[in-house]
Amino acid sequence: MVKICCIGAGYVGGPTMAVIALKCPSIEVAVVDISAPRIAAWNSDQLPIYEPGIDEIVKQCRGKNLFFSTAVEKHVSEADIIFVSVNTPTKTQGLGAGKAADLTYWESAARMIADVSKSNKIVVEKSTVPVKTAEAIEKILTHNSKGIKYQILSNPEFLAEGTAIEDLFSPDRVLIGGRETPDGQKATQALKEVYAHWVPEDRIIITNLWSAELSKLAANAFLAQRISSVNAMSALCEATGANISEVAHAVGKDTRIGPKFLNASVGFGGSCFQKDILNLVYICECNGLTEVANYWKQVIKVNDYQKNRFVNRVVSSMFNTVSGKKIAILGFAFKKDTGDTRETPAIDVCKGLLGDKAQLSIYDLQVTEDQIRRELSMKKFDWDHPIHLQLMSPAAVKEVSVVWDAYEATNGAHGICILTEWDEFKTLDYKKIFDNMQKPAFLFDGRNVVDVEKLREIGFIVYSIGKPL
Ligand code: NAD
Ligand code: UGA
Repeated sequence: MVKICCIGAGYVGGPTMAVIALKCPSIEVAVVDISAPRIAAWNSDQLPIYEPGIDEIVKQCRGKNLFFSTAVEKHVSEADIIFVSVNTPTKTQGLGAGKAADLTYWESAARMIADVSKSNKIVVEKSTVPVKTAEAIEKILTHNSKGIKYQILSNPEFLAEGTAIEDLFSPDRVLIGGRETPDGQKATQALKEVYAHWVPEDRIIITNLWSAELSKLAANAFLAQRISSVNAMSALCEATGANISEVAHAVGKDTRIGPKFLNASVGFGGSCFQKDILNLVYICECNGLTEVANYWKQVIKVNDYQKNRFVNRVVSSMFNTVSGKKIAILGFAFKKDTGDTRETPAIDVCKGLLGDKAQLSIYDLQVTEDQIRRELSMKKFDWDHPIHLQLMSPAAVKEVSVVWDAYEATNGAHGICILTEWDEFKTLDYKKIFDNMQKPAFLFDGRNVVDVEKLREIGFIVYSIGKPL
């Protein structure tokens, strides 16, 4: 029986390994993590992440060929294939602060693998890493290797949160990069055989190591760039009377462009787009490619601009002040169908409104009060000036209440901001909400989910992204 161990039981490690276990009954999969609470949650009925479809798969496989454990060294030493799926956040201090990827967790995992291994291993980069990381990992692993052979593969993950299981069941592609030596090819083949249990062969792409590492950064940069492009157009739509939905539809009909990922929004969030682009920018700068670095930097600048623009729109529409006014925030997660709040645009929007002394009442279907308070009081590095860490004053965070119901959040409010596109927000009883609000009642739809005409008929003053006022 092939044994797989995955280091890192997070948003990627958990779902990816659960699907491998489901699709490959002949493989034993152990997911290990240094976080005991996270492993305990994976072993309970309350999994540590909200992801549609994951509960059923974990229930089906856990204890059979899927195990969650804190016995990191034991499972690593027994495995044939080790996936490393640890976090790779942006460095906040030292060389490359504010841009470069922090590989501390990766390096410590690699050192541990080198320490405990007693047989040959295939080590798979599942985390998103800078191009050329495999070279560094190879050095760490083979230094003092006691004759053990390691093959490093790059197998970046392309799943999106909220649709992780669908994405893993039928991926657009699985990418495997390896050394072009006979041993490298053998390792690539071994990993390909794992995926071949359910992924059609023509969707499994084999490349060299550096292409695989760079393709992941490139794919995220292209995706984020599409959102910044459509968001930049949304500002022009508002200035000219064009409608971004109509423009996006017309543009996306060109088969060379395609219709997906063209939804204008309050800005993109999530743990990866910003971090991976900053990482790409840093790599370009290190290679002396200033113009290329500046091109990609602009994608993040436009995203920041979009979030600021939204806050400015709220404040200026509400007679240039939101001081002391109750504003309902509907949605805090960075997108629907996840409870993840990493880099959610809601953080910047809420901080902007609190900066203008608003009183916020926040409702999200999956995000807890603790998590919202943590996000709002956490130091957030400013990627453009990493030395200045932005910290919300404790007094401002006191102006936040977190509730479990959209009607309670909006009761007595002067305005509503929709910041996540949860389906529930499309079908709320807006007449009832309007009746219980202060007048004039404002609604700022940061996700373009509401029926603007219907709401205007009710009496709301509605602002949507990129639409005529
Ligand atoms: P995460 O923070 O949810 O999970 C990482 C886990 O690794 C944590 O539970 C942490 O405790 C554990 N860990 C860290 N160091 C460890 C060590 N030395 N030994 C054992 N466990 C350790 O992160 P994530 O969202 O799953 O992302 C992981 C990687 O995958 C990142 O590089 C990310 O860029 C990439 N990625 C993420 C997504 C996504 O949708 N979240 C998608 C594709 C790729
Ligand atoms: C993204 C990529 O889609 C995945 O392929 C990739 O694996 C992953 O990053 C990663 O490397 O972490 P994710 O961040 O989970 O996945 O979610 P997306 O669906 O890409 O959404 C990202 C952000 O963009 C969200 O805030 C979303 O609301 C926003 N978005 C998305 C828009 O504003 N408009 C759109 O048209 C699409």
